[in-house]
Amino acid sequence: MSGAPAFTIRDATGADWPAIWPFFHEIVAAGETYAYPRDVGEQGARAIWMVAPPGRTVVAVDRDDGTVLGSASMYANRMGPGAHVASASFMVDPAHGRQGIGRALGEHMIAWARASGYRAIQFNAVVQTNAPAVALWRSLGFEIIGTVPEAFDHPALGYVGLHVMHRRL
Ligand SMILES: CC(C)(COP(=O)(O)OP(=O)(O)OC[C@H]1O[C@@H](n2cnc3c(N)ncnc32)[C@H](O)[C@@H]1OP(=O)(O)O)[C@@H](O)C(=O)NCCC(=O)NCCS
Repeated sequence: MSGAPAFTIRDATGADWPAIWPFFHEIVAAGETYAYPRDVGEQGARAIWMVAPPGRTVVAVDRDDGTVLGSASMYANRMGPGAHVASASFMVDPAHGRQGIGRALGEHMIAWARASGYRAIQFNAVVQTNAPAVALWRSLGFEIIGTVPEAFDHPALGYVGLHVMHRRL
């Protein structure tokens, strides 16, 4: 992509949720990338996604018309003695995929984690067959620490592994 991206990333507010929900629902109902209930309801989804401080939820929005194109939530991976490792979740509206939004959200999250003083980032459950995500996280410096065998029940592929992916900061 050349020039300034056509989108910008900002903190999400409650008013953004109705625009996030349709693609959240589409991605989760497909059942291929997240270990959330495929029939999750809107309020349950909102509770999962709209993270309270000190975590953060952001949206990528079209610079021209403000359309929400993707979102990420970021937070401590564990509490207490595990709270120096960050984690995050990402969703880009499939209608706007492959336009650099996921990469920009990933870079944004890494910068947030570094600025917030986290020592590392851990993704706990990257579906082994989710080639776009695995390629994206690898390109952003994450490595596969290990793969939990058959931990994810894929609707088409059956039991597949979940990668734990990790990046030091
Ligand atoms: C994974 C996801 C966030 C990527 O978002 P995106 O905006 O489409 O990604 P980008 O356009 O920024 O592409 C970044 C990289 O991802 C990889 N990628 C994206 N789409 C891909 C595809 N269809 N096939 C293979 N690799 C792909 C490539 O490495 C790409 O880099 P490149 O364009 O330099 O080759 C998005 O596909 C998504 O929301 N998927 C469903 C939910 C999900 O899987 N979330 C992550 C869970 S760990």
